[in-house]
Order: sequence, then C-alpha cells, then structure tokens
Amino acid sequence: MDFRTPLLDRLATAVIPDQHFELSADDARDVYFTDTRMLDATQLAHHRYRTNPLALHDHLLQALDLRGTEELLDLGCGNGFLIEQIRPHLAAGHVVGLDIAPGVLAAARQRLTGVATPCDWVEGSADDLSMFTDRSFDRVMAVYMAHYVPDLQRCFAEVRRVLRPGGRFLLATDHPESMVEMYAVHFSALREMNAPRHLFRATPKARISLDNGAEQLTPHFAHVERRTWQDQLQFADPEPFLAFYRGHNYCCAASRPGRDLPAEFFTELEDRVRRKVQSVIRTSDYFALTKFTGTFVCW
Ligand SMILES: C[S@@+](CC[C@H](N)C(=O)[O-])C[C@H]1O[C@@H](n2cnc3c(N)ncnc32)[C@H](O)[C@@H]1O
Repeated sequence: MDFRTPLLDRLATAVIPDQHFELSADDARDVYFTDTRMLDATQLAHHRYRTNPLALHDHLLQALDLRGTEELLDLGCGNGFLIEQIRPHLAAGHVVGLDIAPGVLAAARQRLTGVATPCDWVEGSADDLSMFTDRSFDRVMAVYMAHYVPDLQRCFAEVRRVLRPGGRFLLATDHPESMVEMYAVHFSALREMNAPRHLFRATPKARISLDNGAEQLTPHFAHVERRTWQDQLQFADPEPFLAFYRGHNYCCAASRPGRDLPAEFFTELEDRVRRKVQSVIRTSDYFALTKFTGTFVCW
C-alpha cells in the first residue's frame, strides 16, 4: 500500500527541520538507554499498531536470507527484542549482541536466557569492533541505531573487516520524513508554548537515512542495495500514542525533563499533544503515523 500523498509531502516540507539534533554517544548510553522503558514502549507500538502485515523482523529476515547456521552480530541490539524474533531462524547458528548501554544489554541477556542457540553479549560502541577477529561473522545488522554512532565511516570499515566473504551487512533506517504526523503535532504544541528555539531541532536520523545512506556505505561495500517499505501506525486511543511519543523522548528534542526544563513543561506539552491527537481521532477515527522506512543490504 502506498501511503504517500501530496498532503503528506507538503506537511513534511513544512514540518521537518533542516537543522537536525545530534545525540552524543554519552547521551545514548547515560541518558536515553539507561533502562528499557523507551525501547519497550516504541517496539510495542510499532508492532501492535502497524497496518503492514509484515512485522519489522519479517522484513529483516527477508533481507538477512539465513540458512540457520550463520554467525550474526547485532550492533545496537538494545533489549534483544529483534534477536528473540530472529533467533529461531539461527537455531544452529551463533548470535552476538553488542550495545553501548549496559542496562539494555542486561535486559537482552535476560530475555534470551535458556535458549540453546549460543548468544554472547558485548558492551561497546559499534565503531570499535576490535574485540572481533577479521572475517568472524556471516551477517552483521544495525537496526535503527546507526544515527547514534560517533564515527560511522570507522563503523562501516570495521563491519567490512569482521564480515566473511559472502557475508552481508544490513542497515535499517528511515527516510527523514517518516512519522511526520508526530513532528507536526509536536512542533505545533511547542509553538503554542513559545518553547525555546533549540527544542525545534528534532530527529537525529538525518545523519544517516534512506536518502543519504548509500553514499556513506559505497566506499566500503561493492554492492549496496536499498529496500524500502511503508507502514502506517493507527492509534484509535491517544494514550498508546503518548507512550510512543514519550518513548521517542518527545521527538528526540534537545532536552528532557529535569535537565534544562521543568517537569511541568513536559506535562503541558503532553496535554497539548493529547488534545491535538484526540481531535484527529474524533474526526478521522484514528491518529495515523506514516512510516517510510527500509534497509540497505550490503555485501
Ligand atoms: C533505537 S535503539 C534500537 C535497538 C534495536 N536495534 C531495535 O531495533 O530494537 C538504539 C540502540 O542503539 C544503542 N546504541 C547507541 N549508540 C550506540 C553505539 N555507539 N554503539 C552501539 N550501540 C549503540 C542504544 O543503546 C540502543 O540500544
């Protein structure tokens, strides 16, 4: 199904800022992913409220093309949600999950406890894979995490080094205008509140996206193939959307409660966003978040 409409394109042009906020690796480790709450909320919403019959792991499995015996390295594995789905397709294989944040890595270890497929967990940054020898993996994947990695060129060179001949690298990322409806209600509420200018920088994803990823990957891989799909999350109740929005750290705005803005600021922001979402649900039955997403398959 094609969700792209001229109206949505116009909204993206009007709403997505040129200047994108960049997260630091320290923030990813020490602020955003200290525990699994953000990840749990967003994964649940992507899965439960989707309209694309294929779930994320189905799309990844198509691109991973597994035989069942491969060694897979998952960069930025988070809480192991995806490894749990993919692991049965690697019953005679081996999985290594790497993440910069010890809290989510511990949750991944816990989640996979007791499965017979060997799983190892490594704390580290995806741009330093020096703990792995050359040609040690058949598959490497980096799912919605590359925009956090400080040195992407070094990361891709490292992935190339640890991949066996015939292996493949899978990088999942979005188009920058993905989920523009969320940014529209968010920025509209911020404008009403006369919020500080730095909050209008959102989504760090433009650093590497489906629009600019190929040019960053081609120096390292002979073949870079872009595969895209669309989805639309449809929320008939504002509360699950608000959990999702909170899970996105209020659109990855350059702030968070307690740091440089009082908690009341975010209470008011949420109330305003809730009212906007409620009003859409009243007239259209649901609030839609249109996803333009995909993967680069590299070998
Ligand atoms: C949005 S989550 C995605 C998790 C998982 N790949 C998924 O799709 O369910 C991003 C993950 O990347 C991790 N991360 C951030 N910077 C990283 C880095 N430099 N190296 C490795 N992991 C990193 C975070 O801790 C977090 O678990």
